[in-house]
Amino acid sequence: MPTSTQVQLVRRPQGWPVHEDFRTVTVELPDLGPDQVRVANEFLSVDPYMRGRMNDVESYTPPFALGETMTGGAVGRVVASTSDAVPVGAAVTHDLGWRDVAQGDATRFRVVDDGVPLSAYLGVLGMTAFTAHLGLLEIAQMKPGEVVFVSGAAGAVGSMVGQIARLKGASRVIGSAGSPAKVALVQEKYGFDAAFNYKDGHVYQQLRRAAPDGIDVYFDNVGGVHLEAALGTLNRDGRVAMCGSISGYNEEHAPPGPRNLARITQQGLTLRGFTVGFHTQHYPAFLADMREWFTTGQIAYDETVIDGLDHAVDAFLAMMRGETTGKTVVSL
Ligand SMILES: NC(=O)c1ccc[n+]([C@@H]2O[C@H](COP(=O)([O-])OP(=O)(O)OC[C@H]3O[C@@H](n4cnc5c(N)ncnc54)[C@H](OP(=O)(O)O)[C@@H]3O)[C@@H](O)[C@H]2O)c1
Repeated sequence: MPTSTQVQLVRRPQGWPVHEDFRTVTVELPDLGPDQVRVANEFLSVDPYMRGRMNDVESYTPPFALGETMTGGAVGRVVASTSDAVPVGAAVTHDLGWRDVAQGDATRFRVVDDGVPLSAYLGVLGMTAFTAHLGLLEIAQMKPGEVVFVSGAAGAVGSMVGQIARLKGASRVIGSAGSPAKVALVQEKYGFDAAFNYKDGHVYQQLRRAAPDGIDVYFDNVGGVHLEAALGTLNRDGRVAMCGSISGYNEEHAPPGPRNLARITQQGLTLRGFTVGFHTQHYPAFLADMREWFTTGQIAYDETVIDGLDHAVDAFLAMMRGETTGKTVVSL
């Protein structure tokens, strides 16, 4: 009987998750029904939004159920199939992560081209890069010649935002990140014009120095003091893509909001929140751009690969703590 080893949430974390909030189980898999597939996962995605799903709070995605296997982005290869559309040997992406073997209806699995490293479908060719493209171009409506600031600049989404801004004609791209190595990386490899380490001092002052003429677009991955600093720096009619606020995800009490909301009125700013799953109509535009940039070598990307399902929780925590660079994935 085939088996699947899976990670389950057994307790709602208070503040930072700990290992005792999770357990690993091995379950026997039933025979395949009609139009079903079994997939050996090769890479699992760990993402900040998963922290929100560990809380018992209704959001755009339902919370993880206690005692059930968590879900998340994954890519793998079909090892058994009763579906003509998703045959044995096909590479597939799907949302049955946090397990080594996934099984379900063929419609849950999307066949992808085998010609690239499969982990790319979780990052540069996947959800995080789509989020960057969507947030920058559709949500914030970035135009050529504008000055763009992105926080979390060395992460999966942020590293794409800066490069897409440059490829779409931004006049200046500024990033913030949490270590000297990340600050160097975003300038040297991803082509940001300026970057600073937000742990080095006052975020507003560092941003002002990097953007003497102000910014037109802020892509917010972090929230908190970064958002306040950006509001203080945005030019007239500036826009903010409210993508995430990771600085508060592990806080037991919500941090206070920006103290300078009056800037929104004074500068005529637009702040727009979004979650990528509600904007899939823009996916083809992303894919068309990214395919071209990827195949012509115009986009750089990094992955932090952590080996083994046993280390999936460690991988998640390392990503949340800023110990990883680029897209963080677990290899199986
Ligand atoms: N709206 C959507 O549809 C959508 C989709 C995907 C992702 N997101 C959001 O986008 C953001 C980035 O996600 P990602 O997948 O690209 O993750 P990521 O940037 O690859 O990893 C998270 C990064 O957050 C940074 N961070 C952690 N705590 C921080 C703090 N207190 N202040 C500043 N930075 C902090 C760390 O980098 P440093 O070392 O630089 O601190 C860490 O590397 C998250 O807020 C996520 O929730 C939203």
